[in-house]
Amino acid sequence: MRVVEIRDRFGLDHLIAGERPDPQPGPGEVLVRLRAASLNYRDLLMVRGQYNPRQPLPLIPGSDGAGAVEAIGPGVNRVTVGDRVCPIFAQRWLAGEPDRQRLRSTLGGPLDGTFAERIVVAQEGLVHTPAHLSDLEAACLPCAAVTAYNALVTEGGLTAGQTVLLQGTGGVSIFALQIARALGARAIITSSSEAKLERARQLGAWACLNYRQEPRWAKRVLELTGSHGVDLVVEVGGAGTLAQSLKAVRIGGRIALIGVLSGVTSELALTSILMRRVRIQGIMVGHRDSFEALNRLLEVHQIRPVIDRSFPLAEARGALEWMAGGSHFGKIALSI
Ligand SMILES: NC(=O)c1ccc[n+]([C@@H]2O[C@H](COP(=O)([O-])OP(=O)(O)OC[C@H]3O[C@@H](n4cnc5c(N)ncnc54)[C@H](OP(=O)(O)O)[C@@H]3O)[C@@H](O)[C@H]2O)c1
Repeated sequence: MRVVEIRDRFGLDHLIAGERPDPQPGPGEVLVRLRAASLNYRDLLMVRGQYNPRQPLPLIPGSDGAGAVEAIGPGVNRVTVGDRVCPIFAQRWLAGEPDRQRLRSTLGGPLDGTFAERIVVAQEGLVHTPAHLSDLEAACLPCAAVTAYNALVTEGGLTAGQTVLLQGTGGVSIFALQIARALGARAIITSSSEAKLERARQLGAWACLNYRQEPRWAKRVLELTGSHGVDLVVEVGGAGTLAQSLKAVRIGGRIALIGVLSGVTSELALTSILMRRVRIQGIMVGHRDSFEALNRLLEVHQIRPVIDRSFPLAEARGALEWMAGGSHFGKIALSI
């Protein structure tokens, strides 16, 4: 089968198109013919050797994919040949709290991922694809959409009438915007680009703030919410934005800490957390139960992922460079 792999050295220059033998499903396993994959920021970091410099090579990157069941091993009863499916990101995290072993079962490192024509996974490590989505659209779900759902619903407890602050217009934040709208919540979104903010407005954002023009956007969030603050922040900025998020969140509000795009370490006044009873929850994508709940929500509301651009598998490097350039809105996908 055709694959794209990090063969013996990290770096975009060493991401190589190659061939591997077709994998065969063993007992309890499923062979999936992948038709699409999508990119996540972690894939870029993985290829550059910045996510886990000790990751053994070669590695097939790619955390997200979608396709159809091509063959099943003995004892498989959750899926049948021809079913349209998505492998879940953390293969062994099905429900409840994860442990170290479940969090180490992730595709695209440490396990081989989805930049390939075929993948074998345990039958538990799959969900059925929502019927209204194409494979390209479904391939956008396993990391970014599950993360957004987990941050808003499973961990965030966001309800109708509440207000959520979203940062940037990348894959996670645009899914969070679509989910917040479906839940009947108000979304305030930030971006570096007026054109992207206009697109977010068209998708239903209640208020839009340009974080380049207005780096201290928390003040505006308080004005917009009658000095109350937002109920929940979807924090993808990290060190550079957390201080603003702490000012923008209401007393007793929540911050879903997802990304560290603007840095990993920061100096914060801890009193702003304790005096205002703010809860900061680290998010690591989510379990299979969250993925299945997300899919039900997507079907009921007929929500389709926003795909900025798609590339053929062989151009995975160009797709990752497109992501690094940061001009995308929503997801970047690969057709296989
Ligand atoms: N913890 C988890 O489970 C999990 C899961 C998925 C992703 N993540 C992390 O979450 C982050 C976003 O992932 P993604 O897949 O959505 O990435 P992405 O599609 O590449 O989106 C990144 C977007 O973030 C915005 N951004 C960059 N710097 C920012 C800043 N200082 N303040 C506000 N927004 C900023 C930019 O939006 P504009 O162009 O609009 O300015 C950029 O387009 C990454 O750090 C990723 O590693 C974590």
